[in-house]
Amino acid sequence: MSFRALILNQGADRKISGAIETLPVDKLPAGDVTVSVEYSTLNYKDGLVLTSGGGLVKTWPHVGGIDFSGTVEASDNSHFAAGDKVVLNGWRVGELHWGGYATKARVKGDWLVKLPASISTKRAMAIGTAGYTAMLCVMALERHGLKPGSGELLVTGAAGGVGSVAVAVLAKLGFTVVAATGRPQEAPYLKALGAASVMERKELTEAPDRPLLSERFAGVVDTVSGVMLAKALAQVKYGGAAAVCGLAGGATFPGSILPFILRGVAMYGIDSVMLPKAPREEAWRRLGTDLPLDRLDSTVSEAGLSEVMSLAPKILRGEIRGRVVVDVSR
Ligand SMILES: NC(=O)c1ccc[n+]([C@@H]2O[C@H](COP(=O)([O-])OP(=O)(O)OC[C@H]3O[C@@H](n4cnc5c(N)ncnc54)[C@H](OP(=O)(O)O)[C@@H]3O)[C@@H](O)[C@H]2O)c1
Repeated sequence: MSFRALILNQGADRKISGAIETLPVDKLPAGDVTVSVEYSTLNYKDGLVLTSGGGLVKTWPHVGGIDFSGTVEASDNSHFAAGDKVVLNGWRVGELHWGGYATKARVKGDWLVKLPASISTKRAMAIGTAGYTAMLCVMALERHGLKPGSGELLVTGAAGGVGSVAVAVLAKLGFTVVAATGRPQEAPYLKALGAASVMERKELTEAPDRPLLSERFAGVVDTVSGVMLAKALAQVKYGGAAAVCGLAGGATFPGSILPFILRGVAMYGIDSVMLPKAPREEAWRRLGTDLPLDRLDSTVSEAGLSEVMSLAPKILRGEIRGRVVVDVSR
């Protein structure tokens, strides 16, 4: 028995090369569940792994792909049986453990989530870690107490993977979404996802001249960080909240403490990678009910395993719209 995988290697010059190879199944890493992978996807972190390793990969050769969906082929884990449709996001799969850019993966069953019947394996990867993270952001804002009547919600990096799903879910739930993007040409796309209005990124990229600006947003889903986060926080209304998950604009932000101590604003950090199983299952259950899957379809493009290396630099440059589903069979 063999499987096909995009095998990555790092050369002496530290450059990453990738080639599709056929390997015997005994090359798969240890784990109690073997999955016949059907789809994977492309995330910002995959872009890092495929172009430089991003400091995330410790041993070579490596198989990237931080998430995948497919069908259980063999299981020694009592929670899974052959034939189960499953999804995997994070757990440092695709970084420290071989990931989804292959036709088979072997992992710990504890890392897998059974897919709700309403989500096919292909749609699961259209959602991917990006969509699952977007749902975690939405759930954090809901737990904070934000409701559709609370006021406008800002989504930064709105035309990206996390941003697109956040816009679609929040709009379906009845929130008034302001989608901030550096790609104003994507305004029709963001409105089709349900954004009430589109804000040009440049309105949020000049550092605020005051630590508090006029109160505007009830909440924020931030995928960018940097100046955009600082400027967004300065405009959150009294008692509002920001769910922060990304760093597309840098890992630091020139913010002030004043929104927190004068307006009682809360900031929730979102981690999708090591999140325990129960909230993961809840997020996937909610994606099955609250994400308008048909709207998501217009955000999805498809690629084969052989195209992944050339797409990686594009996601790092912010040139990918919505989600890319990788069909590992081609
Ligand atoms: N915390 C977690 O567990 C977790 C999980 C998944 C992803 N993430 C992080 O979340 C972020 C978004 O991920 P993604 O998959 O949605 O990536 P993505 O598809 O590349 O989207 C990122 C978006 O951010 C905007 N952007 C990119 N570079 C920017 C810059 N220099 N300044 C301002 N805006 C910029 C762009 O949106 P516009 O074109 O609309 O402006 C871009 O489409 C990444 O940093 C990723 O690492 C974190």
